[in-house]
Amino acid sequence: QEVLHGALPGANVLVVSNREPYIHNHSALEKGIVVQRPASGLVSALEPIMRACGGTWIAHGSGSADRETVDEHDRIQVPESSAAYVLRRIWISEEEQDGYYYGFANEGLWPLCHIVFVRPTFRLSDWQMYQSINQRFADAVVAEARTDDPVVLVQDYHLALAPRMIRRRLPKATIITFWHIPWPNAETFGICPWKEDIIEGMLGSTIVGFHTQFHCNNFIEGVDRFVESRIERELQAVSLGGHETRIRPYPISIEWPPKELRQLPPAAECRSDLIKQFGLTECTRLIVGVERFDYTKGILDRMRAVDALLSRNPAWRDRLAFIQVAAPTRSKLNAYAKLQAEAEALAAEINERHHGRQDVIHLVPMHYEPADVFRLFRGADSCVVSSLHDGMNLVAKEFVSSRDDNEGVLILSSFAGASRELSEALIVNPYDTEEMASAIDRALSMPVEEQAERMRLMRQQIKENNVYRWAGAILLDAAKSRTRERVLSLA
Ligand code: G6P
Repeated sequence: QEVLHGALPGANVLVVSNREPYIHNHSALEKGIVVQRPASGLVSALEPIMRACGGTWIAHGSGSADRETVDEHDRIQVPESSAAYVLRRIWISEEEQDGYYYGFANEGLWPLCHIVFVRPTFRLSDWQMYQSINQRFADAVVAEARTDDPVVLVQDYHLALAPRMIRRRLPKATIITFWHIPWPNAETFGICPWKEDIIEGMLGSTIVGFHTQFHCNNFIEGVDRFVESRIERELQAVSLGGHETRIRPYPISIEWPPKELRQLPPAAECRSDLIKQFGLTECTRLIVGVERFDYTKGILDRMRAVDALLSRNPAWRDRLAFIQVAAPTRSKLNAYAKLQAEAEALAAEINERHHGRQDVIHLVPMHYEPADVFRLFRGADSCVVSSLHDGMNLVAKEFVSSRDDNEGVLILSSFAGASRELSEALIVNPYDTEEMASAIDRALSMPVEEQAERMRLMRQQIKENNVYRWAGAILLDAAKSRTRERVLSLA
């Protein structure tokens, strides 16, 4: 945290993202306004950073009561209790949201970058909406900037065009763009009809960051293929129209220790609460999964693995339960509605096939607030993260962080960026059902000493490489580049 304060003293820091960290909604039940913490890896990572270093966070106001909580400049202090930073909301109409968010960002870029065999859809009208909303975010950055050289942290695939738009109006700004999802190889990215515009938009940044070196390499390969520019491979630098951009890996992480841990009951209590809540017998072993209901997460694949394990080894019947919490997300889109229906049908089919005294699959299509997620993690014997492709995946890190009892086994997809750091997890290929079934079997049979050894190593890894380290590395690079610019402009 000290690094954060020391890196850019006195700088005006602005974060720009589509998703906001706090959503205010009208509540029918509680007759008032309730605050929701959205399920978003981006938000989990950036929120502690903003609490630590202050500044302004510009995001789309998406809650039904959001407009009632802001002042005349569309701003609100959050978190309300400690007034740590300013959230500036911008407003997007339903029609704009259909084109910019559902359309181009989530039917185009999301499947394109994840390579999960959902065919990306590109419509000219979505693209036009994407351009105009990027401009709206860029205008908000200019309006919120208190100096002509702010530090602007642009987040994710919703805002690929904003960096160049901001650069045009604030040429001295330090713009850092972080891409929270994978970046595919040039062959794949080449499908996008507006690939040049996207890449040029991002090259308005001072630094473009990805989770892994592999994604940096893919990006540079795409620049090489599609844009007339100068690439210095040693420096991982690209120059376009006299402006230089550095491409860097920054593996994202979580707050350590997570603040949720402060008020959590011991693991045994969390476990017995879950057993009660789901009506299970005392000796049931618990496997959990927590994500947004997204087709990139491999939710069907892990259910199939549980199915395969029970078919292979019926002795597990009535002795294990798989609790999958899946927050409905982007449900307006066909691919998402279809996944939820398929998952519900598959759960019913598996429960029928292995019918005993209790259900094996417990699908909870609900949003859980962070404290409830942590309670679930702490009560579990194992957590499965079987993403078909994922930039990092912070659920894996959160599960490990919740286990200060050093118990529990993480089963982790080799296609999630997190698998590069958490090598003591049981690493699986989610496309290989039998392998995943064996991993679940192994997790549930693992001696506690081995669990503890693996858990300790993973906890140490996350503790050392927590989200403050991530932001510190980015801000230190930003500070270096500001010094370089200043020195060069004096020469
Ligand atoms: C991923 C994306 C984030 C996004 C989050 C939740 O983590 O990288 O940008 O906020 O999913 O998705 P949503 O569409 O609900 O914002």
